[in-house]
Amino acid sequence: MTLTFRGLAVASSLVAFGLPALAQTEVKIGYALAPDSHYGVAAETFEEVVLAETGDQFAFKHFPSSGLGGEREVIEGLQIGTVEATIVSSGTLANFVPDTGVFDIPFLFRDLAHARGVLDGPIGQDILAKFDNVGLHGLAWGEQGFRHITNNRNPINTPADVEGLKIRTMENPVHLAAFNAMGAAPTPMAWPEVISSLQQGVIDGQENPLSVIVSVKLNEVQKYLTLSGHVYSPAMLLVSKPFWDGLDDAQKAAFEKAAAEAVVAMRGYVDNVETTGVETLKERGMEVNNLSTDEKAAFQSSIATAYEGYYETYGKELVDSIVNFE
Ligand code: PAF
Repeated sequence: MTLTFRGLAVASSLVAFGLPALAQTEVKIGYALAPDSHYGVAAETFEEVVLAETGDQFAFKHFPSSGLGGEREVIEGLQIGTVEATIVSSGTLANFVPDTGVFDIPFLFRDLAHARGVLDGPIGQDILAKFDNVGLHGLAWGEQGFRHITNNRNPINTPADVEGLKIRTMENPVHLAAFNAMGAAPTPMAWPEVISSLQQGVIDGQENPLSVIVSVKLNEVQKYLTLSGHVYSPAMLLVSKPFWDGLDDAQKAAFEKAAAEAVVAMRGYVDNVETTGVETLKERGMEVNNLSTDEKAAFQSSIATAYEGYYETYGKELVDSIVNFE
C-alpha cells in the first residue's frame, strides 16, 4: 500500500517553492498475489510507465495479496468505480464477458507462444474489446503460465489418481466441468480462502501455474506437484470504465503503453519461473512428477464429455480456429 514516492516528492517540492501542489488522480490497483509475484512485477512496471509518460499526474496505491478481496469483488469494484485497476486471472472473467471462457478450455494451447499469439491476435483482441460493454476496459492480456495440480493425498499419473480428489478450482464453469469429467470432487472457491482450506484439510489440493505455486510458497501446504499443464491460465490488466472514460487521449495512450510493458514484464517473469520453478519447489521439499505425452493424452480423453459442452457453448469452429492457430 505505498503511495508513490516519486509523486509525493514532486508534490512536496512544488509546495517548497510556494507553488500549489498539482492534484493527482489516485489509481488504486488490486491483485491477488504478493509484490514479488508476476502480478506485483507487472503492477510496478505499469505504475512506472504511467508516471514516466504523464509527468506524475497519477498517484498509485497498491493492494497486493488480495488486499481488496477476491478477484470477483475487485472486478465489481472496478465496475462501480471504487477501484481503478486490477490484474486478474481468467477465473471469474467469464461471469462478466462469457466469451472469455473459451481460453479456459483444457488442452487448447500447445505452448506459451501459441497462447500469446492467439491472445495478442484478432481472437483475443475481439474478446478484450467486449469488456467495454460491462463497465470495464480491458487494456491487455497478461499471463500466469500453464496450470499444474498440487495435492496432499497422492502422486498423480492417471485420471484414476484424481478420483474423488477434493480439489479447489477457480470459480470457473469451464474448469469445473473438466474436473467433474475427470472424476475428481472439485470445489470452486475464491483464492483468499484457499490456503486456510488446504491447511485445515477441507480440500486435498488445488491447481495453479508455477508462477503462483512458487511465489505463494504452496510447498508449505502441499506435498505433491504433478506437472499436468492441463490448461493455460491467462491474466488480464483491466481498468474501470468510468475511470477510463475520464482520461484524455494522451493519458489513455500512456496507460496503453504501460499495460503493454507490464505484459512484457509479466511474461518475462513466467518464462523465468517456467525454467527455474520446478527445481526451486524440489529444493523446498515437494515431490514432483511430470506427465508423459501418453499420460497427458489419457487426461485429455477423460474430459471428452466436457469438450462436447465446450463445443456447444463456444462453437466448434471457434475452438478449432484457436487450436489450429499458427
Ligand atoms: O487460482 C486463482 O484463483 C488464480 O490463479 C490466482 C492465484 C488468484 C491468481 O490470479
